[in-house]
Amino acid sequence: MTAPTRDPFPLDLWSEAVYSRRSIPATLATGASAPGAPEPDPAVLPDGRRLPLAPPPLRLQPAHQGQHQRQRQDQRQQTGNVDLADPSVLAALLHYSCGLLQHDLTPGGWPLHRAVASARCRYPSELSLVVPAAAGGHRPGAVYRFDPLHHQLALVHHEMGGAPAVGAGTARFLVITSRFARTAQLYGDYAPRLCAQEAGMLLGAVHLVAAALGLRTRPGLDRETLLELCAGWTPDGVEHPMGYLEVGNAQASGRSTAVEARLPWVPPDAAAVLRARHSGAAIFDPEPVAAPRALLDDLGAALATAPFADFSCHLLVRQVADTPPGHYVHTGERLQSVRDGDPVPMLEQIGQTEGRVSLNFRSVACTAYLAVRRATAVARFGADAFRQVHLVAGAAAHLICVVAARHGLTARVHNGYDAATAERLLALTQDEETVLFQVAIGAAKPAAGFRLPVVF
Ligand SMILES: Cc1cc2nc3c(=O)[nH]c(=O)nc-3n(C[C@H](O)[C@H](O)[C@H](O)COP(=O)(O)O)c2cc1C
Repeated sequence: MTAPTRDPFPLDLWSEAVYSRRSIPATLATGASAPGAPEPDPAVLPDGRRLPLAPPPLRLQPAHQGQHQRQRQDQRQQTGNVDLADPSVLAALLHYSCGLLQHDLTPGGWPLHRAVASARCRYPSELSLVVPAAAGGHRPGAVYRFDPLHHQLALVHHEMGGAPAVGAGTARFLVITSRFARTAQLYGDYAPRLCAQEAGMLLGAVHLVAAALGLRTRPGLDRETLLELCAGWTPDGVEHPMGYLEVGNAQASGRSTAVEARLPWVPPDAAAVLRARHSGAAIFDPEPVAAPRALLDDLGAALATAPFADFSCHLLVRQVADTPPGHYVHTGERLQSVRDGDPVPMLEQIGQTEGRVSLNFRSVACTAYLAVRRATAVARFGADAFRQVHLVAGAAAHLICVVAARHGLTARVHNGYDAATAERLLALTQDEETVLFQVAIGAAKPAAGFRLPVVF
């Protein structure tokens, strides 16, 4: 296996994991361990002093708040002054972005489901709260790891002289790291691709939940800040720095983008929507019913305020009310028609796994393809481009999943697609744009599984 430590995203990942999927081991089909897979992750639960978290609220903007509290919250939302000092805000942010939300009791199934999808529920992603050292900059003074299983924080790192407090203060960062070995046990050298996708989705989740709570976030792509934030607590070659967001205190760094200038899209009763999100049954075979037109309107609003703007979303619409079937592309908030007509033949050519159609495209409502400017990113950032563009597209992919859930639909991230065929049939810019996500949306049939909500 390639050593994930020194170069977690070698340039040949593009050909091995995105274009050809050659790095997926044959053993995946049987569920057996990948040949040469790393040892099982010994650090299943984080070490360190435990801090209880407040029970997560059932609503992200609690209706039971008194008038006075509501006014204060409205003011905070306008000024961006909500901070993590409020224990219920911190608990809600962690739980609804990375927490354990559903327990599936189906024998032989995957029992635990987090707020963000994960290939075969391997959950390689970790979310940690980094409190910068008093000296300033991004070096950590204390790092608190979120433990979704117990809804707790574990203190995993602190500077000499004691740990700075969790919430109070100015700059706080939520840092996403990934333990590739968890996914590599099944997926071998394909794991970095899946881990990068999931890290992006988790970033999108934190951004969305923070917005629902009235918190400002500034997600960053740069490697220097990320590595500084991860200094001293991410075991080399075991846990890979993936992404970060600065939370609260909007004036702190002065960085801002056009995307951040607008308030992010948040669904009404966001907590209920996030609790309902799921990826559907083992084989994605939805009911062939039309999705409401509002699905596309919400997709436009959500993608227009995604954490990063540098992606495009091609939608192949099969059955959506008041919308002719065909190929559309999202630019800004607008859905532009590229070509009318039944998209199923195109979907069945793109959406293939080893020569077979990956899911039932004949009954989906629509399928989204997220594309990024790969060649430009590689020219600018070399091997780190892989991480960066997966963060960009992953954050948008999670929004698509949440928009589907808001309309009672299921969204399935599915890597069974042929990237070169997608480029050709979607008429992407040759040798520049690459599809990183295929997300099918439909009305899930009642499944054999039975998922219970997890309550802390
Ligand atoms: C990056 C990524 C890739 C995935 N690829 C596939 C895939 O190729 N085929 C598939 O059936 N499901 C795929 N999934 C769906 C996961 O198996 C699903 O999210 C997981 O079972 C968790 O279910 P939940 O989202 O309902 O909690 C993928 C999910 C992610 C996040």
